[in-house]
Amino acid sequence: MERTDSIILAIETSCDETAAAIVKNETELLSNVVASQIESHKRFGGVVPEIASRHHVEQITLVIEEALKKANLSMEDMDAVAVTEGPGLVGALLVGVNAAKALAFAHGKPVIGVHHIAGHIYANRLIHEMKFPLLSLVVSGGHTELILMKEHGHFEVIGETRDDAAGEAYDKVARMLELPYPGGPHIDRLAHEGTPTYPLPRAMLDEDSYDFSFSGLKSAVINTIHNAKQKNEEIIKADLAASFQQSVIDVLVTKTKKAVNQFGVKQLLVAGGVAANKGLRTELEKVFQHSGVELIIPPLSLCTDNAAMIAAAGAILYRKGKYGTMAMNGQPGLPIEIMN
Ligand code: KG4
Ligand code: ZN
Repeated sequence: MERTDSIILAIETSCDETAAAIVKNETELLSNVVASQIESHKRFGGVVPEIASRHHVEQITLVIEEALKKANLSMEDMDAVAVTEGPGLVGALLVGVNAAKALAFAHGKPVIGVHHIAGHIYANRLIHEMKFPLLSLVVSGGHTELILMKEHGHFEVIGETRDDAAGEAYDKVARMLELPYPGGPHIDRLAHEGTPTYPLPRAMLDEDSYDFSFSGLKSAVINTIHNAKQKNEEIIKADLAASFQQSVIDVLVTKTKKAVNQFGVKQLLVAGGVAANKGLRTELEKVFQHSGVELIIPPLSLCTDNAAMIAAAGAILYRKGKYGTMAMNGQPGLPIEIMN
């Protein structure tokens, strides 16, 4: 029996946000609480796993209590507890998984393990109904993937990065340009003040591949900076940021457009932290506005890590009766096909 009536509490702790949210009947967001740790990781220029785990332990109970309070509900009102099972930092994942198992066990509710990227994709469903087949461009700090969906809860990875994720490249280049962590938003802002004058590569890989590669681009930026230093030339940061951003956008948009055409999809969903990128949004809007393909990009608060997206994806598993067990563990390398 499929059940679309549901109230799901979800927990997300895969990286540097401790988050809890409640979603009713698959799409109605009742509360969405996110405690960000960015300030603690900033001075190290990236996420420090041990610090992330400790913050999750400190915050998790408070964040869950706040999510219940904001929704004006108690644990007894919940139908299930969903949690990010992976991928992510193992120590960080474990905090969420253990909190979810403890709550579910104590209140006699099922626990549901959710794939983090399935969550990012399902963030879109909180603002718009999904129409299949659809293609999802997932661009985050840890992932760059093109995922095809022909029905709810079924994911086919048709392309992925062979090295760095798009967000990771943004963060590394930002570091080279002495911008604060996370660098994506800073490069995005700078790029709009500059012109793409530096020649940088676009790794399209084989003609028929939907895979991505960003490490060559990252190295090219580093080389450009080193060469300028050796020649005592000044780097125009805004122009270099604009050149880098243009290269990333060209590759993402070219491959996405090709996949949209090949698979004849009805919708293109954009998911993950890099979906917040203004340059990428503008270019996608331009390319797809008269294409007959519906472009959906979530608001910024649903692009970066949150638990509302985990609840939305978890609701589909709840509907199908796909529950986890008390043996659930954090899975750093969990494949998305596990959700199918
Ligand atoms: O999805 P997310 O919050 O966490 C992961 O699951 O990785 O994505 C974080 C990533 C970071 O690399 C950050 O620099 C990037 O998203 N990001 C951006 C922008 N806002 C966040 N990248 C480019 N432009 C932005 N405006
Ligand atoms: Zn994420």
